[in-house]
Amino acid sequence: MTSDEIPATGGAGPPEFDTSVAHQARMYDYLLGGKDNYAVDRAQAEIGLKIYPEFAFTARANRAFLGRAVRFLAGQAGLRQFLDIGTGIPTAGNTHQVAQAIAPESRVVYVDYDPVVLAHARALLTSTDAGATAYIDADLRDTGTILEQAGRLLDFTQPVAVTLVAILHAIPDADDPHAIVARVMDAVPSGSYLALSHLGRELLPPETLRQAEDLVRRSAVQQQFAYRSRDEVARFFTGLDLVEPGLVPVEDWRPEPGTADTGKSTLWCAVGRK
Ligand SMILES: C[S@@+](CC[C@H](N)C(=O)[O-])C[C@H]1O[C@@H](n2cnc3c(N)ncnc32)[C@H](O)[C@@H]1O
Repeated sequence: MTSDEIPATGGAGPPEFDTSVAHQARMYDYLLGGKDNYAVDRAQAEIGLKIYPEFAFTARANRAFLGRAVRFLAGQAGLRQFLDIGTGIPTAGNTHQVAQAIAPESRVVYVDYDPVVLAHARALLTSTDAGATAYIDADLRDTGTILEQAGRLLDFTQPVAVTLVAILHAIPDADDPHAIVARVMDAVPSGSYLALSHLGRELLPPETLRQAEDLVRRSAVQQQFAYRSRDEVARFFTGLDLVEPGLVPVEDWRPEPGTADTGKSTLWCAVGRK
């Protein structure tokens, strides 16, 4: 299937490498100030920024949330195993670097389905000697493959930190993202954690949300995005106990003193314990 044939909404398979269609991973890389993006990704991101300039802050705040969440998980929560699904193009503060700075023995399995991320995966395989990292080229919807392959590095009888940061809004309702998350969390034991962020309907002014959703519908982007309500995002944590401060915009999750980068993001986030 070529990217032109990928359906505009729902059910799209893994993206093929294509520099004529914007990719989520490469647009995010552009918003973070990276160089692994093409003109089509930059143009699409700039259209989004015209509608809502805070999308650039949103990307930075999301990445910063990932860092704080992993520091919490490796530090206070004492986790030593990480399953990072929707890894993105490697950039500063990849999950294994953050976790292994606290606990060098941490084992981290990365998962993404974008060939661009696969092409850069070597940068994720730079583990400490005491720990280990692995990369799985798979679609989040294929939980069987992910769990089977992750089980080669991770011990599923011990707690695992599952991170689904800024990925679930790329899974349409038709693919039942809540059931997908439940399948992953069913496979890990008590004491495991789920950390996620997700585009939130309530976090944009209503007229801006309408424009953003309209843009998503009209765009030739590999993935379509679903803005979900706070309640729909909370439902991913069914059966888990949220740690403080609960479900909040990413910039409000345990902010660290001295952060000069301020703004209002469009992403809900939370961390919960099984
Ligand atoms: C916005 S990036 C987030 C990167 C990183 N988690 C972060 O928050 O900094 C989202 C990533 O999810 C990946 N992704 C989207 N849908 C996916 C799916 N169904 N299976 C696997 N990866 C997916 C994209 O390819 C992209 O690299």
